[in-house]
Amino acid sequence: MRTRSTPLPGTQLLEVVANDEIARGVHALVLRRPDAAGSAPDPGTFLDLLPVLPAARGGAPVLRRPISIADSSADGRDLTVILRIVGEGTRALCELPVGTTVDSLGLLGHGFDPDAVAPGGRALLIGGGVGVPPLHLLARRLVERDVTVQLRLGFRDADDVFWADRFAELGQVLISTDDGSAGSRGTVADLESVPGAAEFSPDAVYACGPLPMLRYVQRAFGPQMPTQLSLEERMACGVGACYACVVTDAADPGHQHRICYDGPVFDAQEVVL
Ligand SMILES: Cc1cc2nc3c(=O)[nH]c(=O)nc-3n(C[C@H](O)[C@H](O)[C@H](O)COP(=O)(O)OP(=O)(O)OC[C@H]3O[C@@H](n4cnc5c(N)ncnc54)[C@H](O)[C@@H]3O)c2cc1C
Ligand code: FES
Repeated sequence: MRTRSTPLPGTQLLEVVANDEIARGVHALVLRRPDAAGSAPDPGTFLDLLPVLPAARGGAPVLRRPISIADSSADGRDLTVILRIVGEGTRALCELPVGTTVDSLGLLGHGFDPDAVAPGGRALLIGGGVGVPPLHLLARRLVERDVTVQLRLGFRDADDVFWADRFAELGQVLISTDDGSAGSRGTVADLESVPGAAEFSPDAVYACGPLPMLRYVQRAFGPQMPTQLSLEERMACGVGACYACVVTDAADPGHQHRICYDGPVFDAQEVVL
């Protein structure tokens, strides 16, 4: 069963208590909920954050932007998100000074199910680009359940790599970069042949990243073992109302899943990518 965190009530103003650039154009923000202890988030669930452009760039709010939870305090009050600047929305969020607030909707979505691997088992986590952050919280939850984790993480180049040390505290980390400036040259698919990968025989696979990467994971692992994919589609409402973010059901081509509401995590055999 995929998981859904107890939702936060509607929108909230979250206080920015830390904002650090952790790689080129990539920021880690710690966002504090105003209420006292809540429930810890499930891995793979996300916040829908409302960026407000600075006055020099129009001063207006733009559509909310979905951003995964990368880490959490034990009580779920402090949530860490990792943002890559790709456009105006993520730029405005990454420019938020410590001490200011951001309007947030969520937690939203069905997350990964760590129970797909029994204690003592092995899980393979595959991520690329902005699909890497939610795998950190997932790896933590798996390790807490005594699951051995291997992470295969893909980045553009060495300057793009973040949290390699924090991931290494949770399991074996294999890194690929497009230009080979860190780890192996190529994509996460090319990591299959590096030392440590072939010997690792997982009980389940979890993945988050760009569509070509998810298609590779679906093809390579989906038919053989439990495989969960998080789809990072562009979203509008974020709550299942507008059907802007759909994916076709594998068994019933007439049925469309809403990625924001029914996902973003789906079983690999459940969807057509
Ligand atoms: C469930 C979910 C979780 C996400 N988690 C994270 C996260 O943890 N960290 C993070 O940095 N980003 C994450 N994203 C992606 C993030 O939401 C987008 O990068 C962001 O909305 C872009 O907004 P923008 O205004 O900066 O860029 P825009 O101006 O809207 O777009 C800039 C460029 O990025 C492309 N783009 C925008 N959204 C996406 C997308 N979803 N997938 C691929 N390309 C896109 C556009 O096509 C365009 O080329 C997540 C997306 C989803 C759906
Ligand atoms: S973004 Fe509106 S239904 Fe998903």
